[in-house]
Amino acid sequence: MGRSSCSLCFRRLVATIALAVAVGAGSHVPPAAAQTPQPVEPAPKTPLPLPTGAIASMTHDVKPFGTTREGQEVSLHTLTNRKGLRVKLISYGATLISVETPDRSGKLANITLSFPTLEGYLGRHPYFGSTVGRYANRIAGGKFTLDGRTIALATNNGPNHLHGGPTGFAHRLWKAEPVTTPEAVGVKFQYTSADGEEGYPGKLEATVVYTLNDAGELRIDYTATTDKPTVVNLTNHAYWNLAGAGSGDVLKHELLLACDKYLPIDDTSIPTGVLADVRGTPFDFTQPHPIGERIGALKQEPHKTKGYDHCYVVRGAAGQLRLAARVKEPASGRVMEVHTTEPGVQLYCGNFLDGGPGANGFKQHEGFCLETQHFPDSPNKPEFPSTVLRPGETFRSTTLHRFSVEP
Ligand code: BGC
Repeated sequence: MGRSSCSLCFRRLVATIALAVAVGAGSHVPPAAAQTPQPVEPAPKTPLPLPTGAIASMTHDVKPFGTTREGQEVSLHTLTNRKGLRVKLISYGATLISVETPDRSGKLANITLSFPTLEGYLGRHPYFGSTVGRYANRIAGGKFTLDGRTIALATNNGPNHLHGGPTGFAHRLWKAEPVTTPEAVGVKFQYTSADGEEGYPGKLEATVVYTLNDAGELRIDYTATTDKPTVVNLTNHAYWNLAGAGSGDVLKHELLLACDKYLPIDDTSIPTGVLADVRGTPFDFTQPHPIGERIGALKQEPHKTKGYDHCYVVRGAAGQLRLAARVKEPASGRVMEVHTTEPGVQLYCGNFLDGGPGANGFKQHEGFCLETQHFPDSPNKPEFPSTVLRPGETFRSTTLHRFSVEP
């Protein structure tokens, strides 16, 4: 073996070791298909206050929410827990359209960006609360190789494929059925993605189950199976504003990310493949920082972005439900924790919200997203945790949002 290929091997070895260390203990990252949902950590010490008019039992109410342009009926599901926390979901895009939680005085507000009617969700929109798939985030050039075969997907974001393509799971009608457990109420959404849809191989059976309990936890469990090898990366694209949607920008929200590394990107937002240390950079949220505190630095060289739009490596072992993020809005006292089994979380701060009708008037930085997911462009980066799903395997992924208040 010549010297240059030896040094390549060495660089690959170093990169592999660095990645193994970065993605978690035990150095083995289970493939998406092997992940098993884990039990949830104990409930927070500061429970949500009981608003006046607290109700006797958890409820799931179903109503029509209009029809698609093809005449299919869309259902609206309202889940309410005994503390009055209320979550609304629609079967179009298996979309989270409202989360009402109390502030420290017990006053409820919707804290996720949305449209008032179905019409807004039918057009192109910034994925407000959508279930995003078959592959959340970007695939470079809309191309990858799987088992020696080149797969070509539609490109819908400059040269790249974004969020499952021009239609994607966000613009599909999902079947809905109620789910009840002793501790929670919920909805199970199911969608069959045809072989070849958006260019992806294999017929994919996908489910997304949302459940709400009395500990103020909204849990999202995803599964998928396929009849041919394919790639899968599912997430929810909710935009949060813990002061209440429409109350202004989110730059004063205090964010903690349980992430020591992030993925630098090229000028088309594709990860370079490096897992960079956050220490000493504006990307460091290992201690809480206001989201806007260092955003100005990102708008200049060498980043030249409109703000945070980067994937972070969540500390600990992928496949285990563990803390990824904690956000506090100081004025209302609302707190949201995000726990996930995924290796990564994309922090996106509504950089492209333009205040137009397609964004329901929401402007830049009026919401932030914490999209739990596998790393962007994994199908082209063999050193990243695999997103390949094969027949006989079941993709499993869980993300939990825990809402509370602090004095
Ligand atoms: C991406 C952004 C994109 C946004 C809306 C986020 O997940 O990272 O770049 O603009 O979704 O599509």
